[in-house]
Amino acid sequence: MDLRLAAQAPHAGLLDWASTPELFREARVLVVDDLAANVVLLQRMLAGAGVGEISSLTDSRLVVEQCQTWHPDLILLDLHMPNMDGVAVLEMLRATLAPDVFVPVLMLTADVTGAARERALAAGAQDFVTKPFDRVEVLLRARNLLATRSLYVEMQRRQELQTATVLTRDRERIARDLHDSVIQQLFGEALGLHSFIPLVQKAVGERLTSTVDVLDQAIKDLRMAIFALQGPVGAPGGLRGRLLAVVTEAGGALGFEPRLQFDGPVETIQSDIGDELVNVLREALSNVAQHSKARRVRVAVEVSRDIVLTVIDDGIGVPAERFGGRGLANMASRADRLGGAFAVANRPAGGAAVTWTVPHEASSERQTTSSSASRTVDTP
Ligand SMILES: Nc1ncnc2c1ncn2[C@@H]1O[C@H](COP(=O)(O)OP(=O)(O)OP(=O)(O)O)[C@@H](O)[C@H]1O
Ligand SMILES: [Mg+2]
Repeated sequence: MDLRLAAQAPHAGLLDWASTPELFREARVLVVDDLAANVVLLQRMLAGAGVGEISSLTDSRLVVEQCQTWHPDLILLDLHMPNMDGVAVLEMLRATLAPDVFVPVLMLTADVTGAARERALAAGAQDFVTKPFDRVEVLLRARNLLATRSLYVEMQRRQELQTATVLTRDRERIARDLHDSVIQQLFGEALGLHSFIPLVQKAVGERLTSTVDVLDQAIKDLRMAIFALQGPVGAPGGLRGRLLAVVTEAGGALGFEPRLQFDGPVETIQSDIGDELVNVLREALSNVAQHSKARRVRVAVEVSRDIVLTVIDDGIGVPAERFGGRGLANMASRADRLGGAFAVANRPAGGAAVTWTVPHEASSERQTTSSSASRTVDTP
């Protein structure tokens, strides 16, 4: 039934058709009345106004269960019913639903006395309509309650998002602290002990070797804990594992552990791009170890529309004039081949930043990036 036809009624224009459709379309409404004829009438009204999902009950004893499984946004609830009347249903709902769940109730009643309304209001009903039903009034009241419900749902969503953000930040902080304090300390100790081994008696050397092994194992376990905090660790032979192995290997030459951070679905990176990432990271870290005199290195792999690898160190920075080597040129041509870009820049705070970016094939919205964008940028 097209409710616009009901505009002949004197107050029909009060329905704000511009704002109502979406509210109704996304709503689930539960109709409860012991009289099947009333249920049918209300269902027709709601369906005609475009309500997305409608469920109905003539047995009021089933309302609580239906709310727990179907999660309505609004309940149209008859006041006078056999077995359990509307007020008893409301009281039961309040006792069973979580206290922070807000499901508005529009009470349906032929009883216009003040006493009936007070009972219903006291039990938690938000609004009333009296029988016989006026279609426009029913829809206006339903719309107002759905608007309140949708604000509540939006607030819940934001709260959940905020909680998730706080959790992620917390995890990142823990991962950072673990890396920067605990791992670096263990790493330094292991390195120190290792350098003593050739200088001491065999028995002591063996004892030192086993201690260094224990420290190495502890570092590995901690690294895994850090990756678990940052997202799925993945199989040891997977890309995360391979990048981690490159970082670990570089730690030996650097004398400290680079920090590695993943952001986004690393597991969706195609294997040929993964191979290039591993090679580029190895070259970038070997440059840091050979040329930079850095004391810290941060490696980040971000995956969204593009795959971006950044290697940032706090060393002396790249000189304006560079001679000989093939490392930087190789990284640039690896990016170029994949339609991506490469840049090496000195950071204002000191040290160099290498950025290697290629388009992510798995990203469905991928736009073609202008190719041959490889470049070398020096900033003072
Ligand atoms: N992280 C860095 N910090 C400081 N200087 C750097 C860094 N990365 C590169 N450089 C400078 O850029 C030059 C060129 O690097 P490139 O990797 O192309 O060659 P290379 O390391 O000298 O030789 P190859 O990589 O072929 O063994 C280096 O010689 C060095 O002077
Ligand atoms: Mg090099």
